[in-house]
Amino acid sequence: MLKSFDIYNQNNVLKIIVALNLLLVGTGSLLYTDRLINRLEDREEQYVQLYAKSIGYLFGSSHPNAGDLTFVTDQIIQANTTIPAIYVDPSGAFAAHKNIDDMPAGLTPEETQKFLKQKTLEMRKKHGPLIVDLGDGEQGLVYYTNSSLLRQIAYFPYALLAILTALGLLAYLSFSSSRRAEQNRVWVGLAKETAHQLGTPMSSLMAWVEYMRSDPDQFDGSITDEIEKDVQRLETITARFSSIGSVPTLKEEDVNEVVRQFTDYLAKRISTKVKMSVTSQLPPGQQVQINKLLFEWVIENICKNAVDAMKGVGELRLNMVSLPHQEVAIDITDTGKGMSKAHMQKVFSPGFSTKKRGWGLGLTLAKRIVEEYHDGRLFVKNSEVGKGTTFRIVLNRK
Ligand SMILES: Nc1ncnc2c1ncn2[C@@H]1O[C@H](COP(=O)(O)OP(=O)(O)OP(=O)(O)O)[C@@H](O)[C@H]1O
Ligand SMILES: [Mg+2]
Repeated sequence: MLKSFDIYNQNNVLKIIVALNLLLVGTGSLLYTDRLINRLEDREEQYVQLYAKSIGYLFGSSHPNAGDLTFVTDQIIQANTTIPAIYVDPSGAFAAHKNIDDMPAGLTPEETQKFLKQKTLEMRKKHGPLIVDLGDGEQGLVYYTNSSLLRQIAYFPYALLAILTALGLLAYLSFSSSRRAEQNRVWVGLAKETAHQLGTPMSSLMAWVEYMRSDPDQFDGSITDEIEKDVQRLETITARFSSIGSVPTLKEEDVNEVVRQFTDYLAKRISTKVKMSVTSQLPPGQQVQINKLLFEWVIENICKNAVDAMKGVGELRLNMVSLPHQEVAIDITDTGKGMSKAHMQKVFSPGFSTKKRGWGLGLTLAKRIVEEYHDGRLFVKNSEVGKGTTFRIVLNRK
């Protein structure tokens, strides 16, 4: 049975609500501006129609009284200060233009004609030209395009959406970083406190061991030895907790040696039906910056999981190789039950466990030790259901 009491992820509902709101505001403003743009476009078209008519009056022959009206038509033509428009007379010449902002200065008349022709081709893509009735069967054309104001409005909802998304992202990042800082404090505080509390009974236990040794008649020496080993083991655990609770110091260590020594130690403590082997393609004496105590904890967590996955029977192989970019890899391969892809993505989340008595903290801790304290990487290199799994630790080498 899978269990996952993901302590840190209870805010999913809130996240969904915020995201939905963002979507709602975004689509709402998109739809609204779309309507607005359509209406403004209609108005601009009506306006250009008026403009075309005015040109017809001004240049046409069929309006004998046009002269009286020129002050009106003139005003209409002058009043267009925003909509780019080009008038093409019946001979096909580009006879007048307004609001063509990007026209370079100092063009010769031929160049101007060429430039305006190009413009009309562009304008045509959006609106067909309006016909200007000049009378006597003569017709001119007015090309136009949306005013720059209208074009700017079209960008508005996208700008709004971008700003909202950026704000949402910022809020999320600051929220999750403060949450991470809190997690950190909990981790570190708990580790320190545990180490501190274990200190007193341990010194007392050591004193008891000394006392037992001083009286071999009453206390069997071999029992005293066993107790001492356990006390030493407790000391290691306390030292691990204490070093994870403070900034651990890294030291140059012979990685081949550290891994071999520690696996020897582990091999004695796991099922004899697990065949453990260590191989290395690293040069002898390869130095790596590590905190031995914490690094051993990582190996222990991964190996323990491997033994669990094999139900105590199988092969557990550790292999060390050099990688490019000044890195070494320690691969830990088991012949256990393996994991599915979905399962693989969760193994490093705190609280994720498939075990009856698991806390789901072993790999979280291991990843933290490798990545935050050693500036390395820890990941599932590959895993196949029913076949086995390989975890890879990557560390920096000299
Ligand atoms: N080698 C492996 N093969 C298959 N599954 C694995 C392996 N290593 C880890 N897992 C899966 O990842 C889960 C999380 O491992 P993790 O070590 O974090 O927690 P745990 O072992 O369940 O509990 P504990 O906190 O006691 O270590 C395990 O419950 C198991 O389902
Ligand atoms: Mg574990």
